[in-house]
Amino acid sequence: MKNFDFDTFPDRKNTCSSKWSELKSEKEIPMSIADMDFRSPDCVVEALKERSQHGMFGYTYVGDDFYQAFCDWEKKIHGSDVKNEEIIPTAGVITGLQWSMQALTGKGGALVMLPAYPPFLSVPKNLEKPLVTMEMKPENGKWNWDKAEFERIAKSGKIDTFILCNPHNPTGRLWSREELCWMLSISRENNIQVFSDEIHGDIILPGEEFVSVLSLPMEIAGDAVVLTAPSKTFNLPGLQTSCAVIRNADSRKRVKDLMAKSHLPGPNLMGITAATAAYRGGEEWLREMISYLKENIDFTEKFLREHLPEITFIRPQATYLLWLDFRKTGWKCDKLSEKLRDGGVFLSAGTNFGKEVGEGFMRLTAACPRSLLKEALERIEKVIKQG
Ligand SMILES: Cc1ncc(COP(=O)(O)O)c(C=O)c1O
Repeated sequence: MKNFDFDTFPDRKNTCSSKWSELKSEKEIPMSIADMDFRSPDCVVEALKERSQHGMFGYTYVGDDFYQAFCDWEKKIHGSDVKNEEIIPTAGVITGLQWSMQALTGKGGALVMLPAYPPFLSVPKNLEKPLVTMEMKPENGKWNWDKAEFERIAKSGKIDTFILCNPHNPTGRLWSREELCWMLSISRENNIQVFSDEIHGDIILPGEEFVSVLSLPMEIAGDAVVLTAPSKTFNLPGLQTSCAVIRNADSRKRVKDLMAKSHLPGPNLMGITAATAAYRGGEEWLREMISYLKENIDFTEKFLREHLPEITFIRPQATYLLWLDFRKTGWKCDKLSEKLRDGGVFLSAGTNFGKEVGEGFMRLTAACPRSLLKEALERIEKVIKQG
């Protein structure tokens, strides 16, 4: 049954939308930045209206309602037991990642799997930590990684940090319980602090299973820092509200102390209001959004198969990002970006996710009305066929 409209959305031009500004032309379609061209659930809009009608916007703190809504969501959706006191609300997942990494790790290297969401490459640099990378490779229709290489790096003594992207941006890969337990155990044995970014963890495509690090046994995962948010799930990234969940009390104190000393602002009143409403009332919207998204992915797969078979992608298990392989066109990202943008469609260049591994790939955000997706794909077809 369709209760929500994912086929239309209000015009986002001239609304300070990062995605819909800085376009090359009025007509360019942005499929780059990872936010959705779907209106957030009504429960969020109503909660924000109600709060704004109160007319009082004085200093606020994060109330019990938010903590409880988050814990209930984690339990119901992911089977994770989280306690209120284990949560540090942050104004953005990457803010939480950088500050917790600064508080909990030294100058050892940070391991990141490539391709990688660009801030995973810049956060270690900001903290003057060497970046250590390993590549995921396409194998039998799946993005795979090399266990032996992971083990060698973990035991090398050169890293003290592992940034895990679970689910993985840009490939949409999910990690199994077994893989997670193995990675976390090796990390623990070698005193490596794990940061699990689970911001995409609520957008799980039908038939797939997401395993949150928060649902794993404490003896394996109790020292991990888990970063998550309702921002991808309900399209709220402009409200900058997220959580760092830190079970280890000593680590949590260190992160809190550093944040307090740095006068780091937490999420604001409106973000907390929206997040609480979304966690309480957004589940049905999310389910329908995921089934619409699945059809968008089916549509893209069919379109490429029929019109542009040289462009392929491995089906994501989660989230709305498609990591498109353009390598058979023979064009590099610079040329692809320029040609596609001149042809009216803006995708993220793969090289932003790793200079070498991303070459010839482009990331497409598929969370938009199907008519817009179709138009974008037709423009891609025209550009590639024109040569
Ligand atoms: C894996 C991942 N982490 C974090 C973020 C950004 O989170 P925030 O805006 O809360 O810092 C994104 C946004 O695309 C992302 O894909």
